[in-house]
Amino acid sequence: SSVGILPGQPTRVLQYAAKLIKGPANTLTEIPGSYLGPVLRFEKGQKIRINLHNQLDTPTITHWHGLHVPAEMDGHPLYQIDKGEILVYEFEMLNRASMNIYHPHTHNLTGEHVYRGLAGAILVNDAEERKLELPGGEYEVPIVIQDRLFDSNNQLIYARHMHDRMMGFYGDRILVNGLPNFHLDVASRAYRLRVLNGSTARIYKLAWDDNTPITVIGTDGGLLETPVKKPYVMLAPGERLDIWADFSGRKLGSRLQLRSREFSGALPGMMGGGRGMRGGMHGSGLPLGSDYPIFSVKVTRQISDSPTLPKKLSTIKRYTVADTANPSKPVPIAISEGPMKMVLNGRPYAFNDVQPNERIPVDTVQLMEIFHTHGGGHGGTAKPDMQHGGEESGRKMGGMRMRGMNHEDGGMGMGMRHGGGEQGGHKMGGMMGGGRGMMMSMAHPIHLHGQYFQILNRSLDGPESAGYASVKHGFIEGGWKDTVLVMPGERVKIIKPFQDFKGLFMFHCHNLEHEDMGMMRDFSVE
Ligand code: C2O
Ligand code: CU
Ligand code: CU
Repeated sequence: SSVGILPGQPTRVLQYAAKLIKGPANTLTEIPGSYLGPVLRFEKGQKIRINLHNQLDTPTITHWHGLHVPAEMDGHPLYQIDKGEILVYEFEMLNRASMNIYHPHTHNLTGEHVYRGLAGAILVNDAEERKLELPGGEYEVPIVIQDRLFDSNNQLIYARHMHDRMMGFYGDRILVNGLPNFHLDVASRAYRLRVLNGSTARIYKLAWDDNTPITVIGTDGGLLETPVKKPYVMLAPGERLDIWADFSGRKLGSRLQLRSREFSGALPGMMGGGRGMRGGMHGSGLPLGSDYPIFSVKVTRQISDSPTLPKKLSTIKRYTVADTANPSKPVPIAISEGPMKMVLNGRPYAFNDVQPNERIPVDTVQLMEIFHTHGGGHGGTAKPDMQHGGEESGRKMGGMRMRGMNHEDGGMGMGMRHGGGEQGGHKMGGMMGGGRGMMMSMAHPIHLHGQYFQILNRSLDGPESAGYASVKHGFIEGGWKDTVLVMPGERVKIIKPFQDFKGLFMFHCHNLEHEDMGMMRDFSVE
């Protein structure tokens, strides 16, 4: 398959080939010219069988991100298959109407496989959603946002340096649905945009370029109770947004862009409005947190009637702490960060390494808390004290020799220079320590397999940073989620059910470079 971005060889990508044997006519929709897998469309209650036939030279396994399926069907790397092997998945669709993802979960290769094209969207429909008569057919458009880096031969370049893995890998071209310069010709009416961040690491701050508020009707786990209007919305890797985009009343020929707007605080180096580091070795491109277009829209058809935005979308039973089995003892998901080490709960991923606080009784609802272990990292406040928290006492970076970012780091160093030098004396936002020790802190999209969860609250460990102020209005909290962006210095409490299925369910950072570095653990539901 080719993506025509540069002259030269067509880009070679990995692809999910799809062959529909049986099922409703619209179960599979190929996106013409795209390397993405087809959009899979299922109905709640449907029984599903999928054969995964590995034709790669490496092992692989497919995970159904967001779906509530038995542990053996969840795409755990324990079950990955070798070249030539076939894995048969069978499960019933228990999810409510929602947008989900299928992608590999191959041990240490998830990021690379997704980057090279193995991913696709899953749309689930149900009766509750159908009653609303939301825009469908050509008026319901999947928008899968990814960033990629190409060499002069039009081939994909992927992370090769320690720095790319520590920070996540950032491309300098935005693709939508696998296509460059994505453009939609629209009618002057309401559309439903099913937006998914399929990037390995890049976080977006989405906004319309004419400052029309973004109307959000759903998140990872389907429809919200009522629509929410925001000046911008944050979208981290693995997260989804259901956006109501009403072009009615716009003149024929008028244009609009969805852009990612400037923000800071998500990466070290993004101090106070500063921009993040550049992606890849080419360094040309699209710093995280800069302002750039995602796709453009032009009104090419005038239509007089448009559906109206429903006031009430769905009913969500909100969990309270009293519903949980552990109201005073939240299950910890501790993010530790340090040179060479990005881990959860203090341990890099390993098979058969479940710790006592990672065992969950089946058919319970659990209170959980996600936090950065060094108890600091206020996203750019550069607060010099480290006394509070500090279970891990934060791996110090001071004293490390930090080399230029573009060098092979030989497995050591963050590829940054502290206190001046090639990077122009950038301080690392979210780094703490008054000169002697420094530690880094960055934003992590934390994803939990199994059922969706609810966000109970977010709080900051310390004073709000400048970086935080540039993102904080962009979180949508009222719906079902399976991935939550945890900013430096943030604590996020969630409530999550663990029903129906025993077995291993992973949780990990959905910055896929972090996941592959071991920022992943298993919950054993028993
Ligand atoms: Cu989308 Cu375990 O991941
Ligand atoms: Cu998942
Ligand atoms: Cu991470």
